[in-house]
Amino acid sequence: MNRRILRTNTSACIAVVVCALAPLAVAGKLNAQEALKVPAGLPDWAFNIPDKIQPAAIRPEGIVKAPGSAKEYEWAKVAGNANPPDWFPDEHPPAPRAVTGGQGIRFACGSCHLMSGQGHPESADIAGQPAEYLIRQMTYYKSGARKDDARMGPIAKATSDEDIRQAAEYFAALKPAVWVKVIETATPPKTFIATAGRHRQLHPDGGTEPIGRRILEIPADPYRTEIRDPHSGFIAYVPPGSLARGEALVKGGESGKTAPCAVCHGEGLKGLGEVPRLAGLQPLYVARQLFDMQYGSSAGKAAELMKPVVAHLSEDDIIAISAYVGSLAP
Ligand code: HEC
Ligand code: HEC
Repeated sequence: MNRRILRTNTSACIAVVVCALAPLAVAGKLNAQEALKVPAGLPDWAFNIPDKIQPAAIRPEGIVKAPGSAKEYEWAKVAGNANPPDWFPDEHPPAPRAVTGGQGIRFACGSCHLMSGQGHPESADIAGQPAEYLIRQMTYYKSGARKDDARMGPIAKATSDEDIRQAAEYFAALKPAVWVKVIETATPPKTFIATAGRHRQLHPDGGTEPIGRRILEIPADPYRTEIRDPHSGFIAYVPPGSLARGEALVKGGESGKTAPCAVCHGEGLKGLGEVPRLAGLQPLYVARQLFDMQYGSSAGKAAELMKPVVAHLSEDDIIAISAYVGSLAP
């Protein structure tokens, strides 16, 4: 209860400061690569903030290739956000310029969400999500109802409605594949969050560390993740017991705590009408959204439906639910 009150006060303060600074921000240069901040009161592991001390991380250079792809790229030319690599062009329909990049586009969707739409844990898996849902989120980001000041806020503001519609239709038509393997363990390998790409990576020192109350996601192959290979997914380490506990919560087993998710998210949590798929999403992403919704920063009108769902969930509940939904086939 104390913490809830604290959060409310803090968010009121933040709101005042943000309002005071808003005109300055608009006048300033658009910079979607601003440093990320963890909203006050939320756990930092859900937000992939790079570690202060940086051990050696995997960094691609020169000409890069992905296994099974006939393509090759000069890394320096595709490393930014304007011109992402398209390793498997035969696996998706022709993509609009908002996704591939093109004249006047600095933040091509394909650079962070990949051409497959499945993205990385610090962004989002949007493959096969309903176009109406994706367009609605962009509207929320544009209006500030859904907050991501470092990334999607500025990107949505810089993208025209027509480009958004075309991108949404492209991603909605893609079919998601299994993209994350969820593993329960008390002692995951030691990791750190690299500045490049904001990916959690194995620590070069080796060894393990206690998982505590966290979800830790690492690329199955850091090099392939860095070069945005859409065939190389992620491993999510979660605390022991998370999957069974998550399943009970998702199915409404712990009476009164939350509603059965399938009522709105469909059978197998594969999505229903305009309500998004949860099955197979990155657990780190799901946890971040549930914390954000609880905290109140992820609240467009349709998302109001989620308010009572998250109201009574503890941090452990959120970890368990996120682990379980991530383990389901998309
Ligand atoms: C610089 C990286 C980056 C680029 C480029 C980018 N995104 Fe995102 N996107 C993100 C991140 C990070 C998130 C997760 C934000 C959060 O946690 O709320 C996200 C989330 C989203 C979501 C919410 C997903 C959901 O399931 O609710 C949508 C929709 C989206 N992006 C669409 C787009 C579109 C369309 C484009 C191209 C116009 C685009 N993004 C370009 C980084 C990016
Ligand atoms: C009463 C209907 C309803 C129930 C029950 C419900 N949801 Fe949702 N949920 C929604 C709607 C509607 C949205 C999309 C809101 C929007 O369009 O902005 C959503 C969005 C989400 C998102 C964001 C997805 C994304 O891609 O960003 C997550 C995560 C989520 N729900 C998890 C859950 C979980 C877990 C449960 C069960 C514990 C649950 N929901 C139960 C209606 C519901």
